[in-house]
Amino acid sequence: MATRQDIRIACVMVGLPARGKTYISTKIRRYLTWLGIKTQVFNVGGYRQRLAGLNKPHTFFDANNSDAMNQRKEAAEAAMKDMIQWFEKEKGTVAIYDATNGTRERRAWLRQELAAHDIEVLFIESLCDDEKVILANIRDVKLSSPDYEGINPDDAAKDFMERIEHYKEFYETLTEDDYTYIKLIDVGKQYVINKVHGYLESKIVYYLMNLHVRPKRIWFSRHGESQFNLEDKIGGDADLSPRGQMYADALPELIEKHLGDRPLTVWTSSMKRTIQTARHLQYPKKHWKALDELNTGVCDGMTYQEIEEQYPEDFARRDEDKFNYRYRGGESYRDLVLRLEPVIMELERHENILIIAHQATIRCMYAYFMNLEHDELPYARIPLHTVIELVPRAYGCEEKFYKVNIEAVDTYRPKVPPRTTSNQLKEHETSRIGASGEIADISLPVLPL
Ligand code: ATP
Ligand code: F6P
Repeated sequence: MATRQDIRIACVMVGLPARGKTYISTKIRRYLTWLGIKTQVFNVGGYRQRLAGLNKPHTFFDANNSDAMNQRKEAAEAAMKDMIQWFEKEKGTVAIYDATNGTRERRAWLRQELAAHDIEVLFIESLCDDEKVILANIRDVKLSSPDYEGINPDDAAKDFMERIEHYKEFYETLTEDDYTYIKLIDVGKQYVINKVHGYLESKIVYYLMNLHVRPKRIWFSRHGESQFNLEDKIGGDADLSPRGQMYADALPELIEKHLGDRPLTVWTSSMKRTIQTARHLQYPKKHWKALDELNTGVCDGMTYQEIEEQYPEDFARRDEDKFNYRYRGGESYRDLVLRLEPVIMELERHENILIIAHQATIRCMYAYFMNLEHDELPYARIPLHTVIELVPRAYGCEEKFYKVNIEAVDTYRPKVPPRTTSNQLKEHETSRIGASGEIADISLPVLPL
């Protein structure tokens, strides 16, 4: 039999209900997709709801209910079939099989089926016996599930606890010594790692070890308007313009207003304009080179119009595929994502962080949290003089844009349809945003054209 060259990994979740399996699956998918690794989640609960219907009481999950057991098995098999097809047809790299998989028998079946298709298996078990955490999880996500639509929340919580009891009767924690696995015990208090090898498996395991579920907020702000922004020039290491300095003066009040009594750390890039923007903020600060703006190589210090005149082919290629286009002697957005990976890992580990960085670097980090595709990432709107607040929730992030009413140029260059003239481009480049006034909270449309 010919040996496969491409890696295919199935992450098989293991755990009782409400142990964060879907949460973990969603995070792994978001992280790997952001890195450019083709990843998909197969949620057996969703298959079960489609096959057997919604509003099933806890008795449906009783192992003595043979009818229901058959329907559940059918759902597990359908998800497995789709997962294997996805590997074969879509050439996927990492699939996440999200179900309880709480018996040795079920896991042996999964492993055998997957091995027969040359797919490596990484089991990921979440163990947690803290009643308070489980109840909070049920309130957080289970009561709003389609399974409990129209049902009183207290009755739904009681029913879900009974559902867990049915699973507990037969639940066997991972002890299969020859399996590759990580056990996450009590939300990050302890980890057990067994037979993990290979770059991608280790990467997933390392990522999981950096996650926590404590409440937190992340704020992003670009530096205040710079002298280069005023001159329509890209790159460089310019000082703030007078309006940029006004933004730096206004920033502490806005941050205090939204921070409340939470502790905060401020991260800036190593460039003058972000350090100057943070200068009145009285919090611990760290300057990261990794947060520096996209390196535009030979185009550093030029306007978009000059680039179009001097490097027309490059300019057009960037419009065709902005995520992958690498400036001569510089970087692409794809390079930037890799440069920012350690920052993302640190962001996951920490609680409240304010990052003052640049248009392109913030786009990359924002895309990670907001799950943007690679082709939309380089067009995300990250305006000057605006703070973006992200609050991570169970399966995603809430976002708010706080615009400070100090005028600034608009450096956004929209996606240009083929054969757009340079005159039209110029029009976009010189547009301006908002007039002055007091600090105002507004929500802006997030996505590009
Ligand atoms: P089910 O089997 O019913 O689908 P589940 O195990 O997939 O349940 P989730 O829906 O993912 O559970 O539960 C989400 C909740 O789990 C979130 O509130 C999240 O904060 C919490 N959570 C995340 N990670 C963990 C963990 N390692 N242990 C316990 N809870 C966690
Ligand atoms: O114009 C400001 C700026 O931060 C430049 O320094 C950088 O090259 C550019 O934005 C990145 O935006 P885009 O990728 O849309 O050109």
